[in-house]
Amino acid sequence: MGKIRKIIVAIDGPAASGKSTTAREVAKKLGYTYIDSGAMYRAVTLRALQEKVPVEAQQQVAELAQKMELKFGWNNARTIIYMDGEDVSEKIRTPLIDQKISPVAANPLVRRILVRKQQQLGRVGGVVMDGRDIGTVVFPQAELKIFMIARVQERALRRQKELEQKGMKVDLEKIIADMEYRDQQDAGRSHGPLKKADDAVEIDTTGLTIPEQVDRIYRLAMEKISETTGLV
Ligand code: DC
Repeated sequence: MGKIRKIIVAIDGPAASGKSTTAREVAKKLGYTYIDSGAMYRAVTLRALQEKVPVEAQQQVAELAQKMELKFGWNNARTIIYMDGEDVSEKIRTPLIDQKISPVAANPLVRRILVRKQQQLGRVGGVVMDGRDIGTVVFPQAELKIFMIARVQERALRRQKELEQKGMKVDLEKIIADMEYRDQQDAGRSHGPLKKADDAVEIDTTGLTIPEQVDRIYRLAMEKISETTGLV
């Protein structure tokens, strides 16, 4: 009997390009699991700050990453990340974490640990994962790879709105400067840099609405699913 194959959808792109909201919606429509890989780098950064381990201390930060248990949960529209059983979904999304995360994301020991965890989470397929290196390093075999881009001004406005909804008022110029810095760090690091995979479909989300982005990716996913479906 023919069985529908569950594919892997890898979505990469710079900060606030609309990846997570879109990825979550696409996963919901497909009945797949959404995994936010950035949340894992954020959780490691949070733990380092809590433990007063300097974010640049590669070995010590990697030990924290190795020891911690990360789990994802889903609650209606929200994705929840548990760090050693505690819901840290809010704590990992602050301007302080944004400022401190780059050395953690550039740490090759941390990347090796988190990439392995991500691969395990996706091993049975049926996963939409977003990040920076999902199509290049984590799942180079992903059936569908998307690379999302958007103008920095628009991305910064989206981030400002997000922060405002949480009661944080941050100057737009500051958000732009932080975002450009983080993009540079993400693109320039030697391990798992932000980079479009050769076989990724590029989508510029400037001026696109979330439903439009979701629809584009959902259609591409359905095409891939019908191409790859056979006897398994
Ligand atoms: O997607 P995000 O903004 O939550 O990501 C937070 C940081 O984590 C970002 O600066 C880059 C890093 N990151 C990464 O290096 N690799 C990933 N797969 C996901 C995120």
